[in-house]
This record gives sequence, structure tokens and C-alpha cells, in this order.
Amino acid sequence: MLSYRHSFHAGNFADVLKHGVLALLLDALRRKETPFCYIETHAGVGRYDLQGAAAQKTGEWRDGIARLWSAAEPPQAAVPYLEAVRALNGDGKLRFYPGSPRIARHLLRQQDRMVLMELHPADLPLLQQEFSGDRRVAVRHQDGHTGLKAFLPPQEKRGLVLIDPSYEVKDEFDRVVETLQESHRRWPTGIYALWYPILNRASIDRLHRRLRDSGMRKILYAELSLRPDDTPFGMNGSGMLIVNPPWQLDQQLGSLLPWLAHHLDSERRGHHAMEWLVPE
Ligand SMILES: C[S@@+](CC[C@H](N)C(=O)[O-])C[C@H]1O[C@@H](n2cnc3c(N)ncnc32)[C@H](O)[C@@H]1O
Repeated sequence: MLSYRHSFHAGNFADVLKHGVLALLLDALRRKETPFCYIETHAGVGRYDLQGAAAQKTGEWRDGIARLWSAAEPPQAAVPYLEAVRALNGDGKLRFYPGSPRIARHLLRQQDRMVLMELHPADLPLLQQEFSGDRRVAVRHQDGHTGLKAFLPPQEKRGLVLIDPSYEVKDEFDRVVETLQESHRRWPTGIYALWYPILNRASIDRLHRRLRDSGMRKILYAELSLRPDDTPFGMNGSGMLIVNPPWQLDQQLGSLLPWLAHHLDSERRGHHAMEWLVPE
């Protein structure tokens, strides 16, 4: 049973980190003219109405994107992300929030394409509708973990896979490691991004340890928390882990993270960090 609906959480502080990093990864792929392929295992619906009932009920976006929307002088590393959000809100008022597929489509060129997987029967038609008529976009109703291997390696031989589950299932931390390892075996040169929630430090230490022992090289991660890791409150923070990050991503994150933390962690209770889990 899938009960998670991203519409309650769209644009919150965790989305902002995820999508800020995602936009930098796609922007880096645009440096070369040759086509790339973007693949997503857990796509959601693509666009979220921040005035809709779900977003209004939690108001999480108010402590996320709303704080950045009007922030003065964002660093260069935040620009690809903020431009993707602005593109959905042409009149200058923040109303719609782009999910990862919309951020990706904003950065896709004519020669690029994307494949989106989504399992929820209610989210699927919304996702299909969002991209109907765009021949660069393929929407699949399938399990992202098992479905991914059929698309690897993509014919373009360049691109990015985003793995962004809802962590509803108890063994999701194990599954993401397996999915990453198997995908990496099929396509060792692809860029992979994995989003993860921080509910306590022990589960993240375990995730990091498993990835450190996986044999994969070039693994970088960035984390942003609003509360100490072990606060028994739910999601205290989140992380984005990148395998095969593009050149200079670490430097870009070095300017993005403190800016995000400055605006999102106004009580200064959390932490932000960026580290190579496994160097080259
Ligand atoms: C965190 S949300 C995705 C948000 C989206 N990536 C974004 O950033 O805008 C996770 C999504 O995965 C879907 N989902 C859950 N289990 C799945 C599975 N096994 N395969 C594919 N999608 C799944 C959920 O319905 C939900 O829409």
C-alpha cells in the first residue's frame, strides 16, 4: 500500500536541498552539446500547487522555498534551481512548485530526453498529463527499483539517475544501496543521485558504511538538518549523495549549503555538511 503523497511536502526544506543539487547536476550535463538522458525512479506528479489543500494543510513549503523565493543575492550555485522555480511562476508570485521532473525538463535541451517511473495509481495520470505531448519524456507506471535496470546504460552514454523514494517501506535504506550497486555495475560512468531522510544518525552511518564498502568510487554527499540528528520528532534533516559527481560540484555545494542553512535553519539548531564518502 502506497500512502505517501508528496503534495504535502513539496517545496519543504528537504526538497530545496534535493532540487538545488539536482539543478546543479543537470546544469553540468549541459556543458557538452552531446545529448544526455535523465532517469528518475520515484517521480511524483511533477508540479505542486502550493495553494492546494495538501500544501496548505502542512504549510511545509513556507519554511522551505518561500524563504528562498525572496532572498536577496543568491549565490551562483542556487541560480539554476531558482530559475526553474521562477519558470513555473511567470507572474512573479510563488504559487506552483516544480517537482524534480519539472526541474529536469526545465534544464533539458531538444537533444536530451528523460524517463520517469512512478508507481502510485493516483499520481501517475497527473504525471502523464504534466508531460503529455513532449516526446522527450517517457512516463512509466512501474517500480523504480526493479524498473531502472531496463534503461541502463542509456544509449546516450551520458546522464543522471535520481533515486528519491518515499522511505515508506522498512527496508528502503537497504533497497537503495542494492539499486545503486546494481545500476553502477550496468553503467559505471553514469551520475547517480540518492536522496535520504535523516531521522537518526545510526541509520545514516549504516547507509554510508554500506556504500563505503560497496566498491563504488567517487561518492560525495551533502546534508542539511534543522535539528540535532537524534531529535525524536521525525525528519530532522536530509541528504543528497552523488556517485560520479561532475567536476567542481563540491565547490558549488560549498557555497550553496551555507546559503541554504542561513535561510532555512534560522534557529541555528541543525548542521550542514559536505564530504567525500569515497574519493576518486
Ligand atoms: C519523495 S516522492 C518523489 C518526489 C519527486 N522525486 C520530486 O522530488 O519531486 C516519492 C514518490 O515515489 C512514489 N513511489 C513509491 N514507491 C515507489 C516505487 N516502488 N516505484 C516507483 N515509485 C514509487 C510515490 O508515489 C511518490 O510519488
